[in-house]
Amino acid sequence: MRIDELVDDRRVVICCGTGGVGKTTTAAVLALEGARRGRKACVVTIDPARRLADALGIERLTNDPTEIDPKLWSDIGADVVPGGRLSAMMLDTKSTFDLLVTRNASSPEQARRILENTFYRNVSGALGGTQEYMAMEKLHELHDEGDFDLIVVDTPPTRHALDFLDAPQRLTRLLDNRVFRLLMMPTRAYLRVASVAVQTFLRTVSRVVGSEVIEDVVAFFRAFEGMEDGFRERAAVVGEILTDPATAFVLVTSPRRDAMQEATFFADRLAEAGQSVQSLIVNRVHPSFGDETPAGLRAAADTLRHAGSEPATRLAALYDSLADFREIATLEREHLEALRARIGGDTVLAYIPYLAHDVHDFATLHEVGELLFDTISAR
Ligand SMILES: Nc1ncnc2c1ncn2[C@@H]1O[C@H](COP(=O)(O)OP(=O)(O)OP(=O)(O)O)[C@@H](O)[C@H]1O
Ligand SMILES: [Mg+2]
Repeated sequence: MRIDELVDDRRVVICCGTGGVGKTTTAAVLALEGARRGRKACVVTIDPARRLADALGIERLTNDPTEIDPKLWSDIGADVVPGGRLSAMMLDTKSTFDLLVTRNASSPEQARRILENTFYRNVSGALGGTQEYMAMEKLHELHDEGDFDLIVVDTPPTRHALDFLDAPQRLTRLLDNRVFRLLMMPTRAYLRVASVAVQTFLRTVSRVVGSEVIEDVVAFFRAFEGMEDGFRERAAVVGEILTDPATAFVLVTSPRRDAMQEATFFADRLAEAGQSVQSLIVNRVHPSFGDETPAGLRAAADTLRHAGSEPATRLAALYDSLADFREIATLEREHLEALRARIGGDTVLAYIPYLAHDVHDFATLHEVGELLFDTISAR
């Protein structure tokens, strides 16, 4: 596979990786490149900073896709294949959850009961895994509506690579849970059936958090009654999208040793879940600066130092710096090859160099795209 295929042929591309490696940047660049090549692309980002909205010339990214102004392309003199367009949206966990409830509730009353529930209001935006779950819900929604032929999903910074893969199933498992079933029962029946252990547990918890909280939680779960099947079906559909051959996983990493270890951990977890990484994008790679070996450069520095003149000594220091850079670049590439070998031979390895500036505007996003897609011919 070539990296071009990600943006030319795939329908869904999921960018994952640990915090700060450049997932949001990469997701935007891939969608941008897809659009430039004529696809109807949408990037679903999770970037509370306004950086990406600013870069795309959009006042504010909302929970619904906003199309970027085609003038942004012409301003930088980029050729766009006719038909190509780019939209962007920022995942708003709470609104997505609200919409999900409204759409799946059997009646407006049921939706209202859930949406007004204090427990729901407190947790719907903050519960661990909710963001991942809602990212998958949004993917499901966009996939279903069919307005885009390329959807690139940015993922939240998480150490738990599988949170977003697993999130829909986790909710289904919760709905199947015994304690949950007990909580769903009408109050008196529930008290009769609930074991002494469960009752003791609830009493203890209510002493700590207050009995209103427990009542809210019970009411929250009870309000979901009848919606389980809908959730289960959606979890199954998301599972199908994720395993579809038209979906690709891109693992973003930096060439630093700690980031590489995290990336290895990610790749292993993905493999365990039956997902393979189609592309490893290494961001912030040091360029190689010429062909001379570090040893050759250091020898040149020594010769210059022996010459003794002031300019020669200064030049020697520069040669030493260059040798350091080359050593770093070589080490980075060795680490990368090791990671690629571990992930599997078919994984496309692509690089984005360390830029001297932030990726903060449309021109820079485009520049990163050119650098990324150039690496195929260069390496
Ligand atoms: N190749 C690069 N050269 C220079 N700066 C870069 C490069 N790639 C990304 N950056 C900058 O690094 C910062 C982090 O990038 P980004 O937000 O894409 O990372 P992230 O993985 O999405 O982070 P988080 O895990 O917090 O969501 C941004 O300010 C971005 O402009
Ligand atoms: Mg991000």
